[in-house]
Amino acid sequence: MFPVFDNEDFSSRRCVWVNGPVIVGAGPSGLAVGACLKEQGVPFVVLERADCIASLWQKRTYDRLKLHLPKQFCQLPKLPFPKEFPEYPTKKQFITYLESYANHFEITPRFNECVQSAKYDETCGLWRVKTVSTTGSTRTEVEYICRWLVVATGENAERVMPEIDGLSEFKGPVTHASEYKSGEDYRGKRVLVVGCGNSGMEVCLDLCNHNALPSMVVRSSVHVLPREFLGRSTFELASTLMKWLPLWLVDKFMLIMAWLVLGNMAKYGIKRPAMGPLQLKNMVGKTPVLDIGALKKIKSGDIKVVPGIKRFLGHSVELVTGEQLDIDSVVLATGYRSNVPSWLQETEFFSKNGYPKASFPNGWKGKLGLYAVGFTKRGLSGASSDAVRISQDMGKVWKEETNQVQQKTKACHRRCISQL
Ligand SMILES: Cc1cc2nc3c(=O)[nH]c(=O)nc-3n(C[C@H](O)[C@H](O)[C@H](O)COP(=O)(O)OP(=O)(O)OC[C@H]3O[C@@H](n4cnc5c(N)ncnc54)[C@H](O)[C@@H]3O)c2cc1C
Ligand SMILES: NC(=O)c1ccc[n+]([C@@H]2O[C@H](COP(=O)([O-])OP(=O)(O)OC[C@H]3O[C@@H](n4cnc5c(N)ncnc54)[C@H](OP(=O)(O)O)[C@@H]3O)[C@@H](O)[C@H]2O)c1
Repeated sequence: MFPVFDNEDFSSRRCVWVNGPVIVGAGPSGLAVGACLKEQGVPFVVLERADCIASLWQKRTYDRLKLHLPKQFCQLPKLPFPKEFPEYPTKKQFITYLESYANHFEITPRFNECVQSAKYDETCGLWRVKTVSTTGSTRTEVEYICRWLVVATGENAERVMPEIDGLSEFKGPVTHASEYKSGEDYRGKRVLVVGCGNSGMEVCLDLCNHNALPSMVVRSSVHVLPREFLGRSTFELASTLMKWLPLWLVDKFMLIMAWLVLGNMAKYGIKRPAMGPLQLKNMVGKTPVLDIGALKKIKSGDIKVVPGIKRFLGHSVELVTGEQLDIDSVVLATGYRSNVPSWLQETEFFSKNGYPKASFPNGWKGKLGLYAVGFTKRGLSGASSDAVRISQDMGKVWKEETNQVQQKTKACHRRCISQL
C-alpha cells in the first residue's frame, strides 16, 4: 500500500494505492475473503466503518442471540469452530471465534473508515474508493485506488424503519430490534413488536421471559418451522433431502413436518404463505422462522398475535381491524437492507435493492474487477462459498502476474550478467 497524491485535490485528500483488492466491510464475509486471500498470497486492505470487526454481531444484536443453524453450517473457510463449542454457538462465542479468525489470518482492518463512494475510473482502469474517517473529532478523507473491489457490506447493513401513520407522535419509547438488548428494561410493560421474522419472534420470547406483555404484529404470512425434527436440524435435513428430491417435494415434507411438530398455527393468527418455505426463500429471499420457543408462548397466549397497524396514537395503536390496543413501548423488528446503492456507483452488476442481479451461485463476480461476498440470501454458508470463489479467481491472476514479473526479473539479471 503506497500513499500517493491526487492531482485533482492535492491539498485536502490523501490518496492510497492498494496493491490488490480493497474489501469493504469487516463482517464475517470480509474476514472470510481476507483469510482465503492470505492463503493465495494476495495482499489486500479491509475498510470498516465501525471500530471493530463483525459490528453487526458486536453492536446490533440482542443478548440472548445464538446461531440458528448448527455450527458446521456457520463456520468460515480454513478454520473450524473450536470442538468444545456447542451445536448452536452463542453470539459471544461466535464473536470470539471471529476475533481469533481475524488474528489467526492476521487481518487488520482499517477501522472507523466509512466508504462514501466507489467508482470505476475508465481513464486509468482502476477503482477509486473514497472514505471518511471519524477518529475522535478529526475528519479525514482518503481515496483508495485499486484494481479489484470486493463488496462485503452485508445484507443487513441498514435497519428498515417503516413509515407508519402517527409513529412519530407515539409517546412511549420506539426501538429497532438492532438496538434491543434484553427484556430487562421492559418488565411489566405492554410492548408492541412489529414484525414476525426471526427477530420479532425471538424478541417476543425474550420479553415474555422478562415478564413483559408482548403483542406481535403479523401483517401478512410467515413460514414457521421447528429448528429440529427427530433430533436433527431442520436445515440439515432440508439440505440433505434437496440432494435427492425436487424442491417442491422437500417443501411438502417441511410443511408436513412443521404441522406434526407445531400443529395448525392459523388458528393463532399465523398464516402460511402459498409458496413453500424453500421456494419462497429462493424466489423472494424471505427467511422462514426457525422456532426456538415463541410458538409455545403464542399458544399459551403469553404472546398476543395481532394484525397489521392502521396508525399509532399517543399511548395506543389502532389495528387494521379497528381494534385499539394500549401500549407502553414499540420494538420495530422490521428487518434490514443492503446499503450498496448509497455508495457504489455501478448499476450493471448490482440492482437497485443492493443485491447482485445474478442469484446464487453466480452473484459473486462482476466486470472490471468488481466482486460481491455475502449477498446470497444463504447466511454464513453462502458467504463462505463466495469467499472461496473470489480468492481463487484473484489468486490465479495474481500468481500468473507475479510469475511473469519474476521471469522478467530473472531474464533482466541474465542480460545484466552477460553484459558484464
Ligand atoms: C440478528 C441476526 C442474526 C443472524 N443470525 C444468523 C445465523 O444464525 N446464521 C447465519 O448464517 N446468518 C445469520 N444472520 C445473517 C447475517 O447477516 C450473517 O450471519 C452475517 O453477519 C453476514 O456477514 P456479512 O459480513 O456479509 O455482513 P455483516 O455482518 O453485516 O458485516 C458487514 C460489515 O460491513 C460494514 N459496512 C457496511 N457499510 C459500510 C461502508 N459503507 N463502509 C465501510 N464498512 C461498511 C458494517 O459495519 C459491517 O461490519 C443473522 C442476522 C441478524 C441480523
Ligand atoms: N440467529 C437467529 O436466530 C436470527 C435471529 C434474528 C434474525 N436472524 C436473521 O436476520 C435476518 C433479518 O431477520 P429479521 O427478523 O430482523 O427481519 P425479516 O426477516 O426481514 O422480517 C421483517 C418482519 O417485519 C415485518 N414488517 C416490515 N415492515 C412492516 C410494517 N410496516 N408493518 C408490519 N410489519 C412489518 C415483515 O412483514 P412482511 O413479511 O409482511 O413484510 C416481517 O415479518 C434474517 O436473515 C434472519 O434469519 C437470525
